[in-house]
Amino acid sequence: MTNMSINNKTALITGASSGIGKALASEFAKDGYNLVLAARGVVNMQAVADAIQKRHQVMVTVIGADLETQEGAAQLHADIKARGITLNALVNNAGYGTFGEFSQSALAPELAMMQLNMNTVVTLSKLFLPDLIATKGKLLNTASTAAFQPGPYMAVYYATKAFVLSFSEAIAAELEGTGVTVTALCPGPTASGFQDKADMHDSALVKGKKLPTSEEVAAAGYRAMRRGQRVFVPGAMNWVMAQSVRFTPRNMVTMMVKMMSRPVQPVH
Ligand SMILES: NC(=O)c1ccc[n+]([C@@H]2O[C@H](COP(=O)([O-])OP(=O)(O)OC[C@H]3O[C@@H](n4cnc5c(N)ncnc54)[C@H](OP(=O)(O)O)[C@@H]3O)[C@@H](O)[C@H]2O)c1
Repeated sequence: MTNMSINNKTALITGASSGIGKALASEFAKDGYNLVLAARGVVNMQAVADAIQKRHQVMVTVIGADLETQEGAAQLHADIKARGITLNALVNNAGYGTFGEFSQSALAPELAMMQLNMNTVVTLSKLFLPDLIATKGKLLNTASTAAFQPGPYMAVYYATKAFVLSFSEAIAAELEGTGVTVTALCPGPTASGFQDKADMHDSALVKGKKLPTSEEVAAAGYRAMRRGQRVFVPGAMNWVMAQSVRFTPRNMVTMMVKMMSRPVQPVH
């Protein structure tokens, strides 16, 4: 921890070592939030922290946390409370996808992904909600346009994001009147570490496509969170697609996603 903060607002951002989470960290810092950055990549997060502290007068705390383990989220909460920190904003952003046919893919990475993308989101939301209620704070959950329909070749990932969207909207309604706002940020394909991690460069969803940057998605998502928007889909075409599935037969939607996501090379 370095530099004195000029205010006392603090945001926890999970998955802040790269991509959208790293870009969200800059958005919060620009607004004067002190930051707690959490992910496994401590070296990358320290570099993010150093760059932010050069530009903004905020305190940045880096915590190494493996959030796809059963105890990871509770341990992170305990670490933050041991430092005497109260959160004004919680950003559940850490997540990843796995790409491939469900009949061929390994179970263990899919269960680990479910732990990170869903259980950790629920656990951190539950444990930090007293802070957010006390501070009339902000909860920002990174879902995906994957949340709006089933996703052949990324079946488990799409289902985890449907969970995040449903969960976020439901607790947003419960929290009405408390001053806490909940925003589900639903990006479409975005340039980040995601495609490498999912091993999906051969998917027609991304192959040869110019994707928006993580910085563009984070800036728009941050503005949506500030205005308290419950569901935010960055990008006009992504928004149209997310809306159109509501009026299209589900089998047709699923078939279209299958075509759009198909491996350009066969997957194993
Ligand atoms: N990029 C897209 O196309 C896209 C589209 C829609 C939604 N999203 C969502 O956006 C969020 C951020 O992903 P991204 O696109 O920015 O990808 P990214 O660049 O790969 O970033 C993923 C972040 O999650 C962290 N993470 C992964 N496993 C973790 C673990 N076990 N414990 C703690 N942190 C972990 C990573 O940090 P470490 O590896 O250092 O732990 C990293 O900081 C995810 O929830 C993703 O599902 C992405």
